[in-house]
Amino acid sequence: MGDTVILKGQVLSFTASPFCPEPTGAARFDDALAMTGGRIAAVGRLDTLRAAHPDARILDYGGHVIMAGFVDAHVHFPQTAIIASWGKRLIDWLNSYTFPEEMRFADPAYAARIAARYLDLTTAHGTTTMCSFATIHPESVNAFFAEAQARGQRVVAGKTCMDRNAPEGLRDTPQSAYDDSKALLDRWHGVDRISYAITPRFSPTSTPEQLDAMGALWAERPDCLMQTHLSEQVDEIAWVKNLFPAARDYLDTYEAHGLLGARGLYGHAIHLEDRERARLREVGGALIHCPTSNTFIGSGLFDLAGLMAGGHRIGLATDTGGGSSFSMLRTMAAAYEIGQLRGTPLHAAQLLWLATAGSAEALHLGDRIGNAVAGHEADLIVLDLASTPAIAQRHAEAGDIWDSLFATIMMGDDRAIQEVWIGGRRT
Ligand code: GUN
Ligand code: ZN
Repeated sequence: MGDTVILKGQVLSFTASPFCPEPTGAARFDDALAMTGGRIAAVGRLDTLRAAHPDARILDYGGHVIMAGFVDAHVHFPQTAIIASWGKRLIDWLNSYTFPEEMRFADPAYAARIAARYLDLTTAHGTTTMCSFATIHPESVNAFFAEAQARGQRVVAGKTCMDRNAPEGLRDTPQSAYDDSKALLDRWHGVDRISYAITPRFSPTSTPEQLDAMGALWAERPDCLMQTHLSEQVDEIAWVKNLFPAARDYLDTYEAHGLLGARGLYGHAIHLEDRERARLREVGGALIHCPTSNTFIGSGLFDLAGLMAGGHRIGLATDTGGGSSFSMLRTMAAAYEIGQLRGTPLHAAQLLWLATAGSAEALHLGDRIGNAVAGHEADLIVLDLASTPAIAQRHAEAGDIWDSLFATIMMGDDRAIQEVWIGGRRT
């Protein structure tokens, strides 16, 4: 057991979902964590872990919090270089900024450069797993997976499929989308820590024939996730109604083509109708909340508290680059602010759970990542609770650890991420 490392600090883990009357009761703090061979071996008292692993190297992080790395359940890595682009709402934003940038990913060298840049940035922000849209180019998927594989990172991604309402050069066909997705899936799904997600962008950019092809592929490979967008903006929903006059609602454009299921990830899901909520709840599909994107693009206020209470599976995400930050801390802060606007403030324990275990469960990876518990993969971050003068002075006045964690959630950024471990290796 010579390769065991023990981290000493305030180790935060969850024993249950904190979406309950006493959120802090779902969390616990231990003083040490041992990892061996890329996995967490044990969490507990330092003397106990030291006795069990006498040869272990011990790293003392003092009062820092040691917890699972953040899990970002919906991103577009190809939008890294256009994050924070001014002044547009969804459809104009796609046409003005997103599509021209995504066109550049026909060049594998550019795709590789942005994949590396994106993973450098997200690692610095404490995100160790993400579920990403690529572009229509298979090269963009290969670039992302190859970079993640070299870093030993657990990631999910897929080729974004579009065969209409996108510019020339950014459209595939039902058949090529099926063939390319299947080839990528066969090449990458289950290799090392990589999973493939079947990825129709959203109903407006796919013909019914393409949605059928994606549904057929998912039926052949039900072990894969399927990711898309749902009911993000009011104008978009009106457009979907025009494009699919026979559909009962937006969700029905997926449901009718075999794209509604428990392993489905539906990004945004802000303006849902009663039937859509009921069907998503019934099948167990995950809704992915992207709060900085929803305020930045002006989409609306996601009903996190209501949907949680209704028993929905919910993940948290940056939606880079519609979202305005790579930071899951900033994303938690935005989720808190949206909760406030709806009269439902979230507890720090709930925010941290959403950014780790909640998102991992949405991705059906909750048995491997998203919690600092024995048996999980050793994707960990060390959080400094006094990372800037402004946060340090608030931390000094904090009543308890939750008070401190909340200040870091609201005011923190990559400076709060002291260290990141991926698969038991320090980055
Ligand atoms: N809907 C379809 N594509 C996108 C995208 O790239 N970003 C966001 N925020 N919404 C979308
Ligand atoms: Zn998105």
